[in-house]
Amino acid sequence: MKFFVDTADIAEIRDLADTGLLDGVTTNPSLVAKTGRSFLDLVAEICDVVDGPVSAEVASTDFETMLAEGKKLAKIADNVTVKVPLTPAGLKTCKALSSEGTMVNVTLCFSPAQAILAAKAGASFVSPFVGRLDDIGQDGMGLIADIVEIYSNYDYFKTEVLVASIRNPIHIVDSARLGAHVVTAPPSVLKQLFNHPLTDKGLAQFVADWQKTGQSIL
Ligand code: E4P
Repeated sequence: MKFFVDTADIAEIRDLADTGLLDGVTTNPSLVAKTGRSFLDLVAEICDVVDGPVSAEVASTDFETMLAEGKKLAKIADNVTVKVPLTPAGLKTCKALSSEGTMVNVTLCFSPAQAILAAKAGASFVSPFVGRLDDIGQDGMGLIADIVEIYSNYDYFKTEVLVASIRNPIHIVDSARLGAHVVTAPPSVLKQLFNHPLTDKGLAQFVADWQKTGQSIL
């Protein structure tokens, strides 16, 4: 399973890239707005820090402008993944860009039917939003199970399931259990994965007992 971080905060991205466990980055207009930075400069900087796919979302909603924006974003670096919304115009843009060899992430997916369309449009990734479904009392992880099952029925669907809108580590573990290819999570949730109170307690005990030996390994 690949781990992407869902943020436009370059300091957080550098911090997580240092762990050696980060496979990519997703951004969206709301995350970019929080930084107050130039979008194009920010995408270039993120692509320098992370080798894997970096999702950069188009800002318009009509086909012609999305296509032009997507082409401009794709020129920033080889690892840019153009992110388009799951609309008829977005899928048309996806088809056009992916036919040219550009990676595309189709975002704002909330149903299995939409995920089928994203795969048919040649998306590299589809982003189903589990947290936002949970927020309205629907079954976010159920959607992931449906999409993974459907995609596995067709060898020629190459689209990876990128679980998005993740709220907690359980979403990540459940995604892994279901065989989703990628998760994208906020930095805080990725950092939570490391934590267990028994790890802290056990380590404190080992350190204290080692000191009693009076030895040094180095
Ligand atoms: C994914 O690409 C989106 O940026 C993201 O996961 C949305 O998450 P949210 O529902 O927490 O805003």
